Amino acid sequence: MRQMIVGNWKMNGLTAPSRDLVSAIAQGLKAIPNPPPVVVCPPFTQLAAIGPLLKGTGIALGAQNCHHEPSGAHTGDISAAMLAELGVEYVILGHSERRREHGELDETVREKAVAAMEAGLTPIVCIGESADQRAAGEYQDAVGWQIKGSLPDNFNGIVAYEPIWAIGSGVPASTQDIADMMGFIRAELTRQFGEAGKTMRILYGGSVNGREAPTILPIAEVGGALVGGASLKADAFLPIVRAAI
Ligand code: G3H
Repeated sequence: MRQMIVGNWKMNGLTAPSRDLVSAIAQGLKAIPNPPPVVVCPPFTQLAAIGPLLKGTGIALGAQNCHHEPSGAHTGDISAAMLAELGVEYVILGHSERRREHGELDETVREKAVAAMEAGLTPIVCIGESADQRAAGEYQDAVGWQIKGSLPDNFNGIVAYEPIWAIGSGVPASTQDIADMMGFIRAELTRQFGEAGKTMRILYGGSVNGREAPTILPIAEVGGALVGGASLKADAFLPIVRAAI
């Protein structure tokens, strides 16, 4: 399985710079022989503008959240079907910023994952421990509970391991920490999903950049990267894409 590089733009991107960014990424991809799968996840407001620009580039469109209901009285929310209609193929769910700022619980994330799959989207479910949980030695328990609680029984998607303390810090987790957690997550996925859990893609996220990607991506069980800050500039994102194996 080729590694996948996913760019999470978070709450960044007005129309003109968003268009420039995808054009620059698409241009750069052309120069990469046999490029890996690449996904960009702009904010909701840019999906309709960016989708058509991706045709023929090999870049897929992702979103950063969805509601668990297909429609209804949910002011300010967006359903998975609405995303699918725009050509969205992937949706990030349960990012730690949403868990923290919007009170999303494992159960909420699980319901969203079900809704996403029903709409034909591939969910990218984020898990990861806080700095306090790591310091207390409770990081495997925390991540284990998130896996049990956030992934529905019929989960058919991607898991992103993002230690919260590494996100936006400029310093990724150490290769040893990543390797240990990847092994743990693979064992948990296999326990929960059997054969399917053995091949489920696991991304690493947390301060991935072009300098560190060549060290992080070859770690066993790492199936790609979920990139935040470095996905906002083509010259920062493309070296990560080039490092994918
Ligand atoms: O979704 C992306 C992650 O939160 C990582 O963000 O690369 O800016 O640390 P970062």
